[in-house]
Amino acid sequence: MLWREDRPMRIALLGCGTVGGGVYEFVQERTDMEIAYVLSRRPRPELNCPVTSDFSRIVSDPTVDTAIEVMGGRQPAYEYMCAALRAGKNVVTANKQLMSERYGELVQLARENHVALRCSAAVGGGIRWLTNLESTLDMEPVLRVSGIMNGTTNYILDTMTTSGLKFEDALRQAQALGYAEVDPTEDLNGADARRKLVISTNVAFGCVVQEPEVTTFGIAGIRACDIGAARKMHRVVKLMASARLDSGDVACYLEPAMMPQGMHEAAVPENFNLISITGMHIGKQSFYGQGAGRFPTAYNVMQDCLDIRNGLTRFYTDKLRPARVDNSSIMRPYYVRVNGMDRWLQTRIDKMLDCGIITTPVAVSEIHAWARERKLTETGGFLASLR
Ligand code: HSE
Repeated sequence: MLWREDRPMRIALLGCGTVGGGVYEFVQERTDMEIAYVLSRRPRPELNCPVTSDFSRIVSDPTVDTAIEVMGGRQPAYEYMCAALRAGKNVVTANKQLMSERYGELVQLARENHVALRCSAAVGGGIRWLTNLESTLDMEPVLRVSGIMNGTTNYILDTMTTSGLKFEDALRQAQALGYAEVDPTEDLNGADARRKLVISTNVAFGCVVQEPEVTTFGIAGIRACDIGAARKMHRVVKLMASARLDSGDVACYLEPAMMPQGMHEAAVPENFNLISITGMHIGKQSFYGQGAGRFPTAYNVMQDCLDIRNGLTRFYTDKLRPARVDNSSIMRPYYVRVNGMDRWLQTRIDKMLDCGIITTPVAVSEIHAWARERKLTETGGFLASLR
């Protein structure tokens, strides 16, 4: 819906939990926006606006310009987003799950209905990452995206590294601070960061990759001795997302990495994210900020609304080329800690450590396939590439 400047932007807030509550508070302080409705299953007498559990009331109200979807999850969020787009309403969402799984379909739907679809808060919490990526694409091709895209796991790795906290205690703290997903398994096994990587990859390369094809290894199996092994090598363990164009296909994977202490990524503390772009002429540029939490995420949602208020009516890219993921040409040495050696690993040992080994350079696709087959995390093992 195009903008009518003689009145505030009328927003339907679908969900008023952690992030939605932050958006609600921000909007109360402004005169250029107003909450037309909050969609909530239960009564919310504390809210100073109409509250309804009937989505059809919202979607049929022609005075609503923009739906902010911050309910999370697949359904009914997917149904509501599609209905809002079809009804000619702009959609701002923080829903990385839907934007990753239904990327092509939702972008296409927004395009057909000539409305804006923005999801800056879905990747990087409060960082204006996707909009910076979009600006870069206006100038030149992007060759690579990489970085730390999950605040919970960064918080855990950082507190284990700097305070010697146990994994379980660090996780509990991250949950108490509101960084973790409802089910923290999705932070720990990399599913959350993988969604952010898929969205970033699709925007960066104008493609559509399928989430299950993205090779992923999380940090659920990490122990203090892995942090110690990295320290002895003057490195720090981080959960790194990486994607680059590779002769038409896309190399795209998420894995723990032991980063040299001098690298920017190694110094990222607490729940912060650091996401980088490598452009043809600009080289590497990095974007840093709080990757999770109520107000940083709500801030990014609000900025998307302001962009729409200023006349923006599109997604970050309109290119939707289907692409295959192929990680076979990227070779790295790996740190591996496993219960019991096997022939594959035996033939790839470069160095023995007190706890684990370093391999000779191995293809990303090969070592991840081996780790899946060995059920490395489930059997208490761990791996991390050496960057
Ligand atoms: N659980 C996510 C994280 C929240 O820790 O990064 C922000 O997407």
